[in-house]
Amino acid sequence: MHKTIKTILTYPVWTLQLFTGVKSFRDNPLIGSRRLNETGLHVLRQSVAHRAASWRRRRLKRAIPPHLVTEFDRDGFVVIRDFLPAATFSRLLDDVRQYRGEARETIQGDTVTRRIALEPRVLARMPGVRTLLDVPLLGRLIRLAGSRDCEPLYYIQTILPHAVTGVPDPQLQLHADTFHPTVKAWFTLTETAENSGPFVYVPGSHRLNPARQAWEKRMSLEAAGSADRLSGRGSFRVDEEALAAMGYPAPRAVAVPANTLIVADTGGFHARGVSEQPGIRVEIWAYERGNPFFAPLVDPWRIHAVGRRRAPALWAFHDWLEEGGVGVHVWRKRGDVGAFDLDVGGHASVHVPPGLSGRFGQVTSRMLRRFVRR
Ligand SMILES: [Fe+2]
Repeated sequence: MHKTIKTILTYPVWTLQLFTGVKSFRDNPLIGSRRLNETGLHVLRQSVAHRAASWRRRRLKRAIPPHLVTEFDRDGFVVIRDFLPAATFSRLLDDVRQYRGEARETIQGDTVTRRIALEPRVLARMPGVRTLLDVPLLGRLIRLAGSRDCEPLYYIQTILPHAVTGVPDPQLQLHADTFHPTVKAWFTLTETAENSGPFVYVPGSHRLNPARQAWEKRMSLEAAGSADRLSGRGSFRVDEEALAAMGYPAPRAVAVPANTLIVADTGGFHARGVSEQPGIRVEIWAYERGNPFFAPLVDPWRIHAVGRRRAPALWAFHDWLEEGGVGVHVWRKRGDVGAFDLDVGGHASVHVPPGLSGRFGQVTSRMLRRFVRR
């Protein structure tokens, strides 16, 4: 009886989530409902989100060189080598090599990811990095790919493959991050060769077609009970046979030197390429994911000084939730660390129970329900 009342009370939240970017088939019984998805709920959300993104992008492409817009529209990503003048890049690299401060680390499989949030206080100590973030083309491309006009979250990101014991990194498998257009960007500070974890993307897979929509529908029917945890959470994994059936070309590995910018719509299929050896990849990394259906009329994140305080605020919010007993914040604090440091906190400091690492700092509706019950 008690459970029934709780379920009834939670239905309005689950219903409202249909109009947001919430994507987990496991945590929301409406999103995960086989019956609703048979009638087309998932493909409808996806199709409306894509239309809304194209409408927003019409305005966001205006100040971008046409050849880059063409490249993005065709492939779903753009690559710009030698993005900064050599002397500017060299100053930026010196800044990052010398900086030591608070960072966060998490583990996925056998790979450690470290992030340093590029908030104003940190940028004041790295003027070369601030120069990069203030390059108008960088912000414009990220806004175009993410179809949202606001300051993205910027970090220095370090990827350390095979740094701890564990199963293979789940990011190695081709997947779409979510059901709608969304952005990630990488400005490389180290070279990424074919065999050292390059960015891999299926060109054109950011666009829907009837075969893709049929595949999405089939996936949505089984996702809630899928043995693949990340597909169940709405980040569908895909194999090359299915890609070919959808009419997409083979995945392309983008091996690039340092000082290269890659901006991608990670609603298209992509992966982190295999890294044969332990190593280190360092980049300035950007991320943004807003409501896929509605753009706010007034968006405080458009103001640089406000938007650049969002990353540490989000970490603090998740720390606070964890202190309240509602889940594990998988981004664990590490003090006094540099982006190029090879040593990692490891399992002992990260304390991420098996099966939770895929949450990657997300607050799920289950966590919120537990919070409300307390
Ligand atoms: Fe991804």
